[in-house]
Amino acid sequence: MGKSREEETVAEGGKPMRLWGGRFEGGPADALTRLSVSVQFDWRLAPYDLLASRAHARVLHRAGLLSDDELTRMLGALEDLEEACRSGSFRPTVADEDVHTALERGLLERLGSLGGKLRAGRSRNDQVATDLRLYLRDHVRHIVSRLVELETALMSQAEEHAATAAPGMTHLQHAQPVSFGHQLLAHVHAIARDVDRLRDWDRRAAVSPLGAGALAGSSLPLDPQAVAEELGFTSAAPNSMDAVADRDFAAEFLFCAAMAGVHLSRLGEEIVLWASQEFHWIEMDDAYSTGSSIMPQKKNPDVAELARGKSGRLIGNLMTMLTILKGLPLTYNRDLQEDKEPIFDTVDTLLLVLPAMSGLVATMRVNTARLETSAPDGFALATDLAELLVRKGVPFRDAHEAVGHLVVWCQVNDTTFEKLTEEDLAKISPHFTAATGEGPGALDVLNVQGALASRKAFGGTAPDRVRDQLAALREIVDGQAAWASGS
Ligand code: ARG
Repeated sequence: MGKSREEETVAEGGKPMRLWGGRFEGGPADALTRLSVSVQFDWRLAPYDLLASRAHARVLHRAGLLSDDELTRMLGALEDLEEACRSGSFRPTVADEDVHTALERGLLERLGSLGGKLRAGRSRNDQVATDLRLYLRDHVRHIVSRLVELETALMSQAEEHAATAAPGMTHLQHAQPVSFGHQLLAHVHAIARDVDRLRDWDRRAAVSPLGAGALAGSSLPLDPQAVAEELGFTSAAPNSMDAVADRDFAAEFLFCAAMAGVHLSRLGEEIVLWASQEFHWIEMDDAYSTGSSIMPQKKNPDVAELARGKSGRLIGNLMTMLTILKGLPLTYNRDLQEDKEPIFDTVDTLLLVLPAMSGLVATMRVNTARLETSAPDGFALATDLAELLVRKGVPFRDAHEAVGHLVVWCQVNDTTFEKLTEEDLAKISPHFTAATGEGPGALDVLNVQGALASRKAFGGTAPDRVRDQLAALREIVDGQAAWASGS
């Protein structure tokens, strides 16, 4: 058996390291230590903790609590420690309680007692809230980049299939023909809202808890606003108690991610259907499909299924977070340590699923002929015919009824709308052949491309409107890509 990621993170041995203990006579019980330790999963906050430590060192210096020389040595040691963390030469041990403890040990190893000065004016309570915000704000940008790739893959397929007619469905029954590109862009709009939500989240998450200390702020002359600015936040938290107790940003991020997961799941479900023998709308590329260990002919849509399945854990992680927060008194409580694993799991899950879904969409081959022949199936042009009668002055109620009769007549006579003649129509209802008004007759509207083209109002499925929609989306998605890359 290989080591788990967590076992790999934490090194063996080491002298137990605690940031507390002055008032304790005996050491902690093993059972407590095992319950309490979080370094095996919070170690990934190390780069952000070091970033915040640098900002804190500068503030201590400006407050006159570190000399010029001490600041230089402190920043040098922090840089050295960062490099050591990156290369793996410094690792947390099983004896470190959490990431903050491990890094303080690293600092003490480098600086001796000077390393102990950095803790002045801050607490793990404001530190951990800051680290988590920094981690998430950074990773949200990676997630948005991956969402943009999926949007781009969907848009390329939509461009190619703006004029490809497909069966549009409600209740998974043929309803009215649509442009297949229109359907693909519907998914892009959903994902674009996910990105929009994450950007909006980022604005609210851009508040720095550092300076709040344990809960009440500090008696030392620190400058929380300067720290906030240095760390890329818009402002420092205006209330130190809220600063350390608030995890809205965590819950809200998890909601945004769960919503994106639900969108991926719905897209996944469609792809599973499209790839089935019964639909046969798409052919998945070999690189993004899997085989069966027993049935040699199988080609399975595992990527889409896993996207659908993993939405379960994204939703679960949101529930975990809300349940942790419910009923917590102000301010910090150790329960809050449980915020990290759902967040890391959600970030990992999205970063795992999104590239696979983008690849699947980008490489799938659309069976245009199959889509177009099945687009009118199931009397999907019935509404077009009824609306033609309406344009000729027939009340919609009567038009609906006449077309309904026509459908039954076709079923009884085992025929379709496409094969109807003027004589057939005349037998069903005089409305169909009445020469009232100008424009096309009943047989003229019974074609799929005409039906698509006629839906030309804003938001409709007419290929020209789909192309307009695509142009507008491309502009939005370009803006999203620029935001994610920080330009
Ligand atoms: N590991 C802790 C967490 O993740 C850090 C804060 C601990 N604070 C405390 N007062 N015990 O929440």
